[in-house]
Amino acid sequence: MKLLEGKVASVAIKENLKSKIESLIASGKRAPHLAAVLIGDDPASHTYVNSKVKNCAEVGIRSTLIQHDANISEEELLQIIRKLNEDKEVDGILVQVPLPKHISEKKVTLAIAPEKDVDGFHPVNIGNMVLGLPGFVSATPWGIILFLEHYGIKAEGKNVVIVGRSHTVGTPLSILFSRNTSFGNGTVTLCHSRTKNLEEICRSADILIAAIGRPLFIKENMVKEGAVVIDVGINRVEDVTAKKGFRLKGDVDFDNVKEKCSYISPVPGGVGLMTIAALLTNTFDAYVRNNDIEL
Ligand code: GUN
Repeated sequence: MKLLEGKVASVAIKENLKSKIESLIASGKRAPHLAAVLIGDDPASHTYVNSKVKNCAEVGIRSTLIQHDANISEEELLQIIRKLNEDKEVDGILVQVPLPKHISEKKVTLAIAPEKDVDGFHPVNIGNMVLGLPGFVSATPWGIILFLEHYGIKAEGKNVVIVGRSHTVGTPLSILFSRNTSFGNGTVTLCHSRTKNLEEICRSADILIAAIGRPLFIKENMVKEGAVVIDVGINRVEDVTAKKGFRLKGDVDFDNVKEKCSYISPVPGGVGLMTIAALLTNTFDAYVRNNDIEL
């Protein structure tokens, strides 16, 4: 069994971005620029956004953090987005969710210019992904594709089983793995709460993606000998012996499954780190495309 290490793969991607950005700056170009909008005081959102900002700095992406308290009106937030859309010095925009209840996430998503939507949440970008056109794929599915690419694992001709059909992970992955691309050409099965014979279907997987949001859901009897297992779950499981009172557990029963796998990603230390690498990659791509930069 080999571990798919998010740290190793994300550092490699970040080093590559950093050197590209350094040479563009040396040739007189400005740095890529991400604008991150953070509303309210949700502690998890603050942690995520701070980490995004810190990672931008590590690779030479400029970032601007726009913070407001939760009582900002929807119109004020939409106005901020419109200004960022028009700002030629801003390449990528992200508005951290969840938003306060009085603000429509749908309206906010639709307000972001698709060519700056580095989160890939805008329907135009989802449509581009389905059609195989240039656009942005959201950070978790794109991070998983980059993760497998880093380790030279190909989906072509393989049975890819995805457990969980969320808009943000399972559904986009089912499309990406089935497309005729260097990372696609897999035979995809998308499983969900109504799937019959789930264990048997999972046992047919050469590549098994667990994205259900239930701790330790994938057990040993659901994994084929030699399978590649990607764990997307980040579940807080109460544990009085842990400092914070909880531990992060994936959707896979890692300890009992690992020896059956050819490759497996741990939680923490797996997919989570790749999502940031994917966001940085998207921001760099937005900068290149929107400014007609030749590499
Ligand atoms: N909240 C949790 N994950 C994400 C993400 O990928 N993007 C944004 N904007 N908000 C999030």
